[in-house]
Parts: sequence; structure tokens; C-alpha cells
Amino acid sequence: MTDVHAHGSPPGAAADEMLRLEGVVKRYGRFTAVAGLDLSVRQGEIFGFLGPNGAGKTTTIRMVAGVLQPSSGRIVVGGDDLLRHPDAAKSKIGYVPDRPYLYDKLSGAEFLRFVSGLWGKTGQEAERRADRLLELFQLADWKDELIESYSHGMRQKLLISSALIHQPELIVVDEPMVGLDPRSARLLKELLRAFVGQGGTVFLSTHTLEVAEALCDRIAIISEGTVIALGTMEELRAQADAGGAHLEEIFLRVTGSDAMADVIDSLKEAVDR
Ligand SMILES: Nc1ncnc2c1ncn2[C@@H]1O[C@H](COP(=O)(O)OP(=O)(O)O)[C@@H](O)[C@H]1O
Ligand SMILES: [Mg+2]
Repeated sequence: MTDVHAHGSPPGAAADEMLRLEGVVKRYGRFTAVAGLDLSVRQGEIFGFLGPNGAGKTTTIRMVAGVLQPSSGRIVVGGDDLLRHPDAAKSKIGYVPDRPYLYDKLSGAEFLRFVSGLWGKTGQEAERRADRLLELFQLADWKDELIESYSHGMRQKLLISSALIHQPELIVVDEPMVGLDPRSARLLKELLRAFVGQGGTVFLSTHTLEVAEALCDRIAIISEGTVIALGTMEELRAQADAGGAHLEEIFLRVTGSDAMADVIDSLKEAVDR
């Protein structure tokens, strides 16, 4: 294999491609959690990654974030191959994990300073950026309190702030709405929209179908580690041959849960009476 394309755009890639997955596989022993994913995410879009529990969403997101190595396949971030040029690729990514690890004995401000330092960003500019993020997430009044005293929503917001601290081009978010109160959920949606409005790109997994429907430009539905449906809401509706259907129905249909849909229908009938 030549190295010609390793640092530029891969062959066949659109100029505005921010993230590309090519035949990405992840095996845990004999079990295949991700079974050959091909995806292309454009710069400036919010791309939703949906699927039932165990479908392989978190495994995929962790590979994209560079914290888990694929068994095979290729991941390209803004033209940089994640395996060959990990530093260049990773510096473009902000990762918000589903099960965060925060240092309870640091204050919010200290935590941001710490993460900023990991990216080699220190000094006044870094401080200003941290302050802006704390302000934006309404954490400024608590920035000197220990993280152990933070509510779940506050922790989530601090975590997202830390993912944005090095000014990434792509943010990768795993189940971001879990445990957020409506106000924080709304704030997060606005923030993601603002981020793409400024040219950023979002790759997010969620099981909150309404969130995906309201927020995402395109959606991939995965099941057992492969993509089973992909496109805009309209395209998904067409693919599922479900004109006018809500994503929930499409989701149930393409994930082979017709039986469940039937149960729901009969429940509705029973309740109607
Ligand atoms: N470290 C691991 N070792 C073995 N199996 C794993 C590991 N992590 C995840 N899995 C399995 O891989 C599958 C996909 O998991 P995951 O990516 O967490 O799915 P999702 O986020 O879509 O719920 C599941 O069957 C899960 O049990
Ligand atoms: Mg998960």
C-alpha cells in the first residue's frame, strides 16, 4: 500500500467530508460488535447514529474518538487517517463519552484547565476560553466548587465544555440527553446547532428518537453492528415504505420489531376503549 493518500483526502472522498468510516470492524474475542461499517459524514451536518441497545453505537463512537482500536477498517477525520496520523486526527475531535470520568476533587475551573493543558493549551487565551464555556453553560457561579457537589446535568455540561476546549472541528457525543433536565437538554440542542452553524460537525448517538428527528440532518440506523437504514428523515421514511411515519415507527420496522409495533398498536386500541 502506498502512503500517498494517508495525509490528504482519501480517494473518492468528497471535499466537504469530515468523517469517513470504511469497513470498520470491531471484534471482542469471537463476538463481532461492529461488522463492517461504511459511513460518510459531511462537514456542517448533525449526523445521528441510532440503534437498539447492543447495536454497536458506543463501540463505534469509541473507535471514532480514538480510544478503541478497530479490528480492521479505516477511519478518516478531516482527511487524516486516525491510525496513521492519530495526533492530527484526534486534535480535530471533541469526545463526550456516555460514562464520563470526572475528577471529583477538582473544581469545574480546575478540570477545564487540566483538560486544556492536555491539549497543550495554557495561559490567558486558554483561561478565557474556559471562562466563556463556563459562562455559556451557566456554570460560572459554580466554577470553583468541587465537581463532587455538581448535579448530573452540571457534570454533563462540564463534560461537554471540556470536549470543546481545544476547538475541535468534529464533536462525537454518546447518548448526550440521558439524565438532562428539559432546560439542559434544550441548551445542548441549541449548542449543537450553534456549533454546526459555525462550521462544526456533530456525530451523535441517541436512543431518544425525538431528539434525532428534531436535531439530525441525516440519520444512520444500525443493528447488530451494520447499517440497516441511512438518510434524511424523508429518505428513511421512503426506505421504510412508511409515508408520514414518525421515526419511532421506522425504527421499530427496520429493526425487525414489527411484533413490538403490533403490541403497541393493540395496547393503544385497548386504552382507547
Ligand atoms: N469490552 C467488551 N467486551 C465484550 N463485548 C462487548 C464489550 N463492549 C461491548 N460489547 C458488546 O458489543 C455489543 C455492542 O455494544 P455497544 O457498542 O455498547 O452497543 P450500544 O452502544 O449500541 O448499546 C454488545 O453486544 C455488547 O455487549
Ligand atoms: Mg451505548
